[in-house]
Amino acid sequence: MVKMQKIPTIFYGTAWKKDRTAKLVEQAILTGFRGIDTACQPKHYEEAGVGEAIRQVEKKGVKRNELFLQTKFTPINGQDPKRIPYDPKAKLPDQVKQSFETSQRNLGSDYIDSLILHSPLADMKRTLEVWKTFELLFKEKLVGHIGISNCYDLKVFKLLYENAEVKPKFLQNRFYRETKYDKTLRKFCHENKVIYQSFWTLTANDHILSHPKFQTIAKECKKTEAQILFRYLTQIGIVPLIGTTSEKHMKEDLALSQFRLNEIDMQIIESLFN
Ligand SMILES: NC(=O)c1ccc[n+]([C@@H]2O[C@H](COP(=O)([O-])OP(=O)(O)OC[C@H]3O[C@@H](n4cnc5c(N)ncnc54)[C@H](OP(=O)(O)O)[C@@H]3O)[C@@H](O)[C@H]2O)c1
Repeated sequence: MVKMQKIPTIFYGTAWKKDRTAKLVEQAILTGFRGIDTACQPKHYEEAGVGEAIRQVEKKGVKRNELFLQTKFTPINGQDPKRIPYDPKAKLPDQVKQSFETSQRNLGSDYIDSLILHSPLADMKRTLEVWKTFELLFKEKLVGHIGISNCYDLKVFKLLYENAEVKPKFLQNRFYRETKYDKTLRKFCHENKVIYQSFWTLTANDHILSHPKFQTIAKECKKTEAQILFRYLTQIGIVPLIGTTSEKHMKEDLALSQFRLNEIDMQIIESLFN
């Protein structure tokens, strides 16, 4: 069994890359990314391309246990009806098991570091049914952590948390104004040691990136706006998912670890999210 304990502070996101997935993921890993986010959802992700990249980087010296692999179980309503990676007529626990086996095959790894439920199901009973199956995979030591995505209702997340025997380690959400940046959810996460992962981080936040105060900080720090935003998030404990297709951006984003924002700049940026 391969086990990696450390959770990376940023992840490379693999959605929408189609037949460029293998090459881009290989490039991301060789540039320095160690966390990889994918999904067993052919509609948006080429999970087998991620597996191909893992095989290629292994030949170049990056071992499986240096990587943190995260994939998702996507319920039927999130799948392309023509390409469902499990039997849609099977019972929910069997759908999860079949999807997980597909991910193991696609990624060429029996052990998956993190398994995420792509979104809550129509009701709590069904969501918990999936969660119980996730817990079995966790207890069998086939997954290292379990989490949920697209869960924007604190009540739903709390119910899941309270009913879970194995608590969610990750909440992966769209980070945007419409949900007030999940402030109350993030407070709950912080109090309960759940790590918040963000997506749409750049695309939904042009008003922040172009704000004069934000621009001044970027100029003074001699960093790009994207670097400042990602750095701010990592400093408050958020793990951004980054799906760039540019090597230059990969390098810039990985260089986040080489600088720190001071308290005053942190407060100014925080105020822009109000
Ligand atoms: N759970 C879910 O439902 C869900 C939904 C959506 C996404 N995700 C995950 O989140 C990942 C990220 O998706 P995203 O929606 O946040 O968008 P993204 O794919 O990361 O796109 C970011 C955009 O910003 C541009 N960009 C400019 N400067 C950049 C920089 N320094 N670093 C990175 N990008 C830069 C990129 O262009 P360049 O390519 O030119 O850099 C790209 O157009 C996905 O791949 C997926 O793994 C999850």
